[in-house]
Amino acid sequence: MRDLSKEILSVDALHKTYDIKKLFRPTLKLKALSDINFHLDKKETLGIVGESGCGKSTLAKVLTKLEPRTLGEINLQGIKYDEISSHDFHSKIQMVFQDPYQSLNPRKKALDIIADPLRINTNTSANETRDLVMAMMKKVGLREEFALRYPHHFSGGQRQRLGIARALMLRPEILILDEPVSALDVSIQAQVLNLLLELQEEFKLSYIFISHDLEVVQHMSDRILVMYLGRVVEYGSRDQIFNNPLHPYTKILLESAPKTHREKSNQAITVKGELPSALNLPKGCAFEPRCPFAKPGCKESIPLLEIKQGREVACFEAH
Ligand SMILES: Nc1ncnc2c1ncn2[C@@H]1O[C@H](COP(=O)(O)OP(=O)(O)OP(=O)(O)O)[C@@H](O)[C@H]1O
Ligand SMILES: [Mg+2]
Repeated sequence: MRDLSKEILSVDALHKTYDIKKLFRPTLKLKALSDINFHLDKKETLGIVGESGCGKSTLAKVLTKLEPRTLGEINLQGIKYDEISSHDFHSKIQMVFQDPYQSLNPRKKALDIIADPLRINTNTSANETRDLVMAMMKKVGLREEFALRYPHHFSGGQRQRLGIARALMLRPEILILDEPVSALDVSIQAQVLNLLLELQEEFKLSYIFISHDLEVVQHMSDRILVMYLGRVVEYGSRDQIFNNPLHPYTKILLESAPKTHREKSNQAITVKGELPSALNLPKGCAFEPRCPFAKPGCKESIPLLEIKQGREVACFEAH
């Protein structure tokens, strides 16, 4: 049930189309996100899962204003995105990237990387900034002496802690975490996930947690959005999605999830059959070509999300 008093973020009919321009060819439209609707409550974690290319990072980029949206409305604490000043926006919503190495400036010391959001967005004095950076480093489990080191001196897990510290400096209320542990060794992943859970409790954070690792999503999320080729195919509580999935795609994802660490290091979710091109989506349900339960009608029109067994699911055949 939606409780508006708890909502911190809401997304209504969001679309994102990329123009693909090639020399001497007409511009192609790539629908990366189509008609996305969801909300995020205070202090909860919404997990987002789906195969590579289904639009997870595009959603993260649109939510953090790194990419403009094409259509639709996003509200942060009831205020339209376009009406929020850049300063207010960054102090409410921040992003943690998959590859901490690429997202950290290699020529800056940890102290400066973590201090930058404060220096850019606030008038905090140099001394206070330093104190705040040190306090945040401690919170994310980085020792003081790391402050003057450069990112390449850090291990993968430490770099991700650095990225998390930087994201928290403006005391945001929402963190968008795009595959935050996928680049890390399995043995380090649990430490960073536990840190995220501790920080969520301490700073009363809401998370949008993007991952293709279903076990990780199950561990972290209260509710889950399953995406397929830019659309939401199922949206419900963790238990609904994991214990009683209704969409054939969700079922197949769960069945085909890698179970062992060895399989996991291979990372990709494998679902049989070819993923249609996002540049040339089928007229009907985009999962129809791969769906074991498909009926002729599935080719004709796109199933809309409907409430079935208490969650939303976009499938004519799910009951
Ligand atoms: N800047 C861009 N220009 C054109 N197309 C893009 C751009 N960024 C993403 N796309 C396309 O949008 C679709 C969604 O990509 P996106 O990166 O959001 O997927 P993803 O779910 O994050 O995948 P992965 O699991 O591999 O990270 C893909 O078809 C991708 O090729
Ligand atoms: Mg991605």
